[in-house]
Amino acid sequence: MKQRIFLLLLAAIQLASTTARADEGMWLLHMLKRINEAEMQQMGLNLSAEDIYSLNQACLKDAIITLNGGSCTAEIISDQGLVLTNHHCAYGAIQGFSTVEDDILTNGFWAMALEEEKPIPDFSVTFLQRIEDVTERVLADVTSDMDQATREQTIQGVISQIEEEEKGINPDFRPQIKSFYHGNEFYLFVYRDYTDIRLVGNPPESIGKFGGDTDNWMWPRHTGDFSLLRIYADGDNNPADYSEDNVPYQPKRHLKVSLDGVQNGDFTMIMGYPGSTDRFLSSRGIQQALDLYNPSVVNVRDLKLKTMKKHMDADPAVRIQYAAKYAQTANYWKYYIGQSKGLRALDVYGKKKALEDDFTAWVNESPERRTEYGAALELLSTYYENTDATVQGQVYSLEAGLIGCDLMLFAFRVGMGAQGLFSEDADRAGGAAASLRARAEGFFKDYDMETDRDLFINLMGKYMNDIPADQQPTFFANVNDKYKGDFKRYADKMYPKSFLTDPVRFEEFIANPSEKALEKDLAIAAAMSLIETYRGYFASPEQGKFDEGYRLLTAGLREMSPDKMWYPDANSTMRLSYGTVGDYDPADAVHYDFVTTSDGILQKKDNSNPEFVVDGTLESLLRQRDFGRYADDDGNLVLCFISNNDITGGNSGSPVMNGNGDLIGLAFDGNWEAMSGDIAFEPELQRTISVDIRYVMWVIDKMAGAQNLIDEIDFVTTPKSMPQDMARPLEEGRP
Ligand code: ARG
Repeated sequence: MKQRIFLLLLAAIQLASTTARADEGMWLLHMLKRINEAEMQQMGLNLSAEDIYSLNQACLKDAIITLNGGSCTAEIISDQGLVLTNHHCAYGAIQGFSTVEDDILTNGFWAMALEEEKPIPDFSVTFLQRIEDVTERVLADVTSDMDQATREQTIQGVISQIEEEEKGINPDFRPQIKSFYHGNEFYLFVYRDYTDIRLVGNPPESIGKFGGDTDNWMWPRHTGDFSLLRIYADGDNNPADYSEDNVPYQPKRHLKVSLDGVQNGDFTMIMGYPGSTDRFLSSRGIQQALDLYNPSVVNVRDLKLKTMKKHMDADPAVRIQYAAKYAQTANYWKYYIGQSKGLRALDVYGKKKALEDDFTAWVNESPERRTEYGAALELLSTYYENTDATVQGQVYSLEAGLIGCDLMLFAFRVGMGAQGLFSEDADRAGGAAASLRARAEGFFKDYDMETDRDLFINLMGKYMNDIPADQQPTFFANVNDKYKGDFKRYADKMYPKSFLTDPVRFEEFIANPSEKALEKDLAIAAAMSLIETYRGYFASPEQGKFDEGYRLLTAGLREMSPDKMWYPDANSTMRLSYGTVGDYDPADAVHYDFVTTSDGILQKKDNSNPEFVVDGTLESLLRQRDFGRYADDDGNLVLCFISNNDITGGNSGSPVMNGNGDLIGLAFDGNWEAMSGDIAFEPELQRTISVDIRYVMWVIDKMAGAQNLIDEIDFVTTPKSMPQDMARPLEEGRP
């Protein structure tokens, strides 16, 4: 007991002495002034909060965008709408333009003029206009004794109403209200989308994905994970669907590129769209992740990856078709392996448990607290208790089922969209046909029947084998009755017959849709049964216990420590993270430097391993060491660096900026030793991995020779004699 208090005290002292190093935290832009500005300036920011986020003037946030509704982040780096993001964020687009004859995934691509830029199908970017706190209004009619379902209904009603009002005020903008702190606060985000986006340049995969899945989620890294896009607009600079008449978008604000490079300890800030974190997760939630959720995902994906790989290795066309799907599956396969490892190694469960013990003691100090928060942990543990038996089934319904083979997801979407085909309203029917045709085009382009069929058979077989019968999708009964429980037999009937597995049959159906054809299609039947199973897991009353418990725990923890700087979990809204460049010690007797250089590429080179191939042009340029103005003080070319900024998936492609708001890097990954970071931030170990902007520019300039692009970019350097925080950046060539 005594020791406990001593430890708590010690922790409190440590906390107080380290608050000037706010590496942890994904901060909301409209709160920077109140919460972070002073500390950021003390750490090296030469701007004001108003320079970053303002309702009245162009500011940094106007240069930051999200891709495809939140998959990645990107930034504008010229007054002609030139956009920089990660290679892995444009991977699907790059792969989509690649063929065996013209394989830009392997060879790279550079548009030397605007006319050569490639319009990307189904791609959008989003600008944030403003943020508004609407908590009071959203919760106006909510009472603390309301049951969770009524509460949610009430909240949803007000949210829809506010969003409708916003659309009335400005139909060009897209309002969206999101919950923060797990149902405790609500903010309105107003967005504007652009849809004519073109591919401008990408390095060969051997640069953009150097190190492949072996190096993924790891430091030290030597990956040039970048690509270039451009936003196009109509003649009035407004959003417009692709047209030859569209012109490069003129941004309110674009980032300048700093050639100063990084030193250990330098201030860094990152703005972007982190997707999701679970920093308020309870110990019981960690237990469920470790025992059930994570291993299930890894298990299914393991089989999926092996199945895809077999076909990709055998056929170059399939390799291209499945490259993006493979990378996407592998990325979070490795993530969950790392997360479990990190959670165990860092005893995150134990730390959470200790926090919950403190919480319980605090709650029990007063009857008011007991009334308000007494149920929180109990609700959560009941939820986990009651769902332990269904976690694996839920994961399988998605991972092996709906998103297992491509045919299932396609069939689900067609099954949903097909209702429109039968509409009396000719416009509506026409619209449904057009959108289904577009979907089919995307599907067939990257669909290989043999691969998909193997995926279906393997994954469904595993599903039937691993998941208890009472949780299996209803169509499994049919497979048992009519196909001897053999998915191969089902596949033998489904693939040759379904109208979804062949473009000609698909077109026949769209031209002449019939309810009957829809009903008896085996792929549709399987997909509809899978979605029903999947949705069933979330319709369970258990979900309400989780939502209520999580909301109360989060509110209670904040009330318990009112002086702590709280920030909400990531939820695909724009955030800022600030910290410093910094090396670390990953293990006993091991030290990792904060930068990697081009020497590492030559050391890792292994042309017999597709993940470590070094392009011949790159190799000879690196050996010549012609790094020009992109070299560091020692004449080296720095490739990547690490900093302790707090980011997660969705931040990929985010700008790393110095104290002047100038671009010094492009965030693209996290590190292996802190893969549990989405659940608990680890200040000593957690690092953001970024590609140094000087490597990006060197590739564009010296390797691609794309002078047209270099000319568009504003470079800045700080004279060496002046300390960074005193010098204002000087436009290059204009001292
Ligand atoms: N781990 C990175 C992220 O989630 C993706 C890196 C892509 N590279 C790869 N080898 N799959 O942002």
